[in-house]
Amino acid sequence: MDCIQLIVGLENKVRLLEAANEASAFLLNTSKEDFGVIIIRSMQVVARAVNADRMYIMKNHLIDGELGCTQIFEWSENVAPQQGGKYVTNIIYRDIVPTWPDILSQGKSINSLVEDMSFKEQAILAPQGIVSILVVPVFINHNLWGVVGFDDCRHRRLFSGLEERILRSISLSIANAIHKNGITEKIGKLQNSLLRTMSDLVEYRDNVTGCHVKRTKNVVKILLDEIKAKRLFKGRVDSWDTDLILQSAQLHDIGKIAIPDQILKKPSLLTKEEYAEIKKHAIIGYNIIKRIEAESGESELLSYAQTIALTHHERWDGTGYPFGIKGADIPIEGRIMAIADVYDALTSERTYKEAISHEEAVKIIQEGRNTHFDPVLTDLFVEINEGFKK
Ligand SMILES: [Fe+2]
Repeated sequence: MDCIQLIVGLENKVRLLEAANEASAFLLNTSKEDFGVIIIRSMQVVARAVNADRMYIMKNHLIDGELGCTQIFEWSENVAPQQGGKYVTNIIYRDIVPTWPDILSQGKSINSLVEDMSFKEQAILAPQGIVSILVVPVFINHNLWGVVGFDDCRHRRLFSGLEERILRSISLSIANAIHKNGITEKIGKLQNSLLRTMSDLVEYRDNVTGCHVKRTKNVVKILLDEIKAKRLFKGRVDSWDTDLILQSAQLHDIGKIAIPDQILKKPSLLTKEEYAEIKKHAIIGYNIIKRIEAESGESELLSYAQTIALTHHERWDGTGYPFGIKGADIPIEGRIMAIADVYDALTSERTYKEAISHEEAVKIIQEGRNTHFDPVLTDLFVEINEGFKK
């Protein structure tokens, strides 16, 4: 091997490693919103580094007891996508590439010129313009999760040993990211539906409040968006996850579950003793959520929820409950919830009172500036009050 060949070889190796590195960096920065974009971008970096014209990810599943797959991502350049961009679904491997299931299940790759493959395989691959192909298996938790394919539509070649090793490694990283994202999505949906069910339970019991949870959540959302847009409470609110706060807000009255029916559903004004009973819902709610946290290990969402349940009846001047803390000692989440809670209570009909108008409610909240409510939040609420109109 002469010097030039050696340098070209080294350059190729460096290029491959750089691509693998770049793709890994993409994968570390995925979020719910841009997940698909990030996956395609990392595929592009990797495929270009090995001069592949197409890269695709197939996720395995059983079809009538046979190993099959469905395409979930594809990137292509210079050539048309497989099936004209329509992702192929529910393919049984044995029907189209009969030898592949055994090879892939053993952890081996398919690395071949299409012209060297069986007639049946050529009949499937050649019409897609594929000249050379590498298909690597991906195992997650010891199961064949799927395969990642790389097509070269221009060159007769085998992918080198180093290319194959790096492509197997980065394919596993991409598949792991997809796998984890799927689990996260499922858990997120389950979590949301459990929280909604819990807050519905409170509403079924506390039937005077109607859609209180939904409406207060909406007010909290508008306030939060505005706080972030105006960069208020700088350094403290910036890092908040708005979705988690909104999910947490649903649980603010969860403690009412433990308040007796005759008090919770009383159609007239409460006595002093009954009111003292109702007040307990803040601490009871906190304890319920604390227990869920201890048993589930979930802490970020539930710490917002605990704070909101515990402090949404505290008042800026220290005359609220359960602790009578005041001013900036009251967590901001609780201060936001206090405004949303009172605004909705004022503008909603109860069995013992009529609903008041939006304008009157805004006036009452404004009058509570510095006594009941945080002055900064009150000013913000008044400024954007039109957005809360029902
Ligand atoms: Fe409450």
